Amino acid sequence: MALAHARVFGQPALQEATPSPYKAYIETYGCQMNFADSELVAGILQAEGYGFTTDPQEADLVLLNTCAIREHAEEKIWQRLKYFQSLKVRRPHLLVGVLGCMAERLRKKLLEEAPVVDLVAGPDSYRHLPQLIRQVESGAKAIHVLLSREETYADIAPLRLSPHRVSAYISIMRGCNNMCSFCIVPFTRGRERSRNWESILQEAQDLAAKGYKEITLLGQNVDSYHDRGVRFAQLLARLAEAVPQVWIRFATSHPKDMQDEVLETIASYPNLTPYIHLPVQSGSDTVLQRMNRGYTAAWYLQRVEAIRRYLPQAVLSTDIIVGFCGETEAEYQETLALMRAAAFDSVYHFMYSERPGTLAARRYKDDVPLEVKKARLEGVIALAQELNLESHRRQVGTVHLALLEKPARKDPRDMAGRTFSGQAVVVRQAADRYPPSTILKVRIVEATSATLIGDVADPSPVSP
Ligand code: SAH
Ligand code: SF4
Ligand code: F3S
Repeated sequence: MALAHARVFGQPALQEATPSPYKAYIETYGCQMNFADSELVAGILQAEGYGFTTDPQEADLVLLNTCAIREHAEEKIWQRLKYFQSLKVRRPHLLVGVLGCMAERLRKKLLEEAPVVDLVAGPDSYRHLPQLIRQVESGAKAIHVLLSREETYADIAPLRLSPHRVSAYISIMRGCNNMCSFCIVPFTRGRERSRNWESILQEAQDLAAKGYKEITLLGQNVDSYHDRGVRFAQLLARLAEAVPQVWIRFATSHPKDMQDEVLETIASYPNLTPYIHLPVQSGSDTVLQRMNRGYTAAWYLQRVEAIRRYLPQAVLSTDIIVGFCGETEAEYQETLALMRAAAFDSVYHFMYSERPGTLAARRYKDDVPLEVKKARLEGVIALAQELNLESHRRQVGTVHLALLEKPARKDPRDMAGRTFSGQAVVVRQAADRYPPSTILKVRIVEATSATLIGDVADPSPVSP
C-alpha cells in the first residue's frame, strides 16, 4: 500500500475530544495501516481522558508511530528522537513512546539506545497503552511487544484524523502470512487475521452517517480476507449495499491471490471503485522467485488483462523494488518491459533496503552497488512519469465523477480531489461554489504527470 510521509495527528481530534489538561501528540510514519492505527491509539487515549495537540512543545505525551520497511524509515525516527530528547530537557515531565513496526522490530534495544524513550509498544499492544502509560508515570520504563493471533481492535472506535469528513480508512485485517523474502512486515505485524465482517459494516455505516463519502479498506493482502465463509468479494458486496452512497476503495491486492470474483463484484456495484493497487515488485521471473512472491511476470500480466477486461475504467497502480539481491541489468530491463506491457497508471518505486532477519537477509547478498540501484531507480521513475502522463492524457475530453477534498495548493480558487477511479484531479474555479465532500461531474481538459485538470461539467452536484 502507499507509504505516507510523516503525518501529525491533531486538528479534528482537537475538535472532537473533550478538553483535557493532558495533551498527546502523535506523529505517524509508514503506510496507511499505521495511519489507521494512530486513529485507534487516539481513540484509546481519548477514552482515557487525553486531549490532543499538533504542537509537540505543549504535549505531555509524545507518541511516534513508526515504520521499519526500509532502513531510511528508521533513520528518520532516530533523528526525531534526538529532537524529543532536547524537548524533554525543557519539559522534564514529557513522556515519549515509540509505537509501530520499528518498536516491534527493535523492542528493548530502543529503550537501551535512546534513553529519551519511556515506552515501547508494538502494533498488537495498543489496548495496553493506558496501563503502560501508568507504569511510566510511576517511574518505570514500559514495554509491550507481544504479537497476537486474535487482536483486530474490532471493538475500538478510532478517532478520525481527516480535517474534513471526506474519506476514512477501515482496517479489515492485520498481519501477513506471506513471506516475501525482502519484507519485514510479517515480523513486525505477525500472523494474518481478519476482523469480523459485522464490525466492519457497522464502522462503515457510522462513517456514512457522519457524512464521509469515501472509505478505504486496508489489509496487507485483502484477497485473503475471510470471516466465517465471508470472503473479500462478499465483504465488498455487503459493504456496497450497506453504504450505497459511499465510494469504497481497498488496498492492497496480491497478484497471486487476486480472484476474478472480486473484479466481477466491483463491476456490479456502482459505488465500488475500479482502483486496483497490485504490487508487482519486479518484471523478472528469476527475481520474483528470489523474492518469494509466488507468481511469474506472465501470471501478473494475465491478472492485469483480467482487470482491464472486467473494469475497462480501472486505474492500476503498483510497487516496484529495484536493486534486489543479485538483480542483473537484464533482469532490471525486464521490469521496465513489464511496466510498459502493464501500462501502469501510477507506480510507487523503491530501492531495495536489506532488513535484518528477513529471508533475503539470511539467504542472499545485498550485492547491487548503491550507484547502480540509484541509476535503476531513476530509470523506473522516468518511465513511471511517462506512463503516468500517458494515462492522464487518455482522460482529456472525458467526463468523470470527482470527490472534492480541499482547496488546491497552487491556486486556492481551485479544488483538489479524486476521480471515482482514484486519480488526482484539480477542478478549476470550484472552491467558492462547492465545499469539500461534494461529488461533481467534471470534464478533464488538461493533464500533467501529477494530476488531471478539469472544469465543472454540470453545476448541480451529484452529491452535496
Ligand atoms: N503487503 C503490502 C506491503 C507493504 S510494504 C503491500 O503489498 O502493499 C509496501 C511496499 O514497500 C512493498 O510493496 C515493496 O514494494 C516495498 N518494500 C517492502 N520491503 C522493502 C525493502 N526491504 N526494500 C525496499 N522496498 C521494500
Ligand atoms: Fe510484505 Fe509480501 Fe506481506 Fe506485502 S504480502 S506485507 S510485501 S510479506
Ligand atoms: Fe506499514 Fe512500515 Fe509497518 S509500511 S506495516 S508501517 S513496516
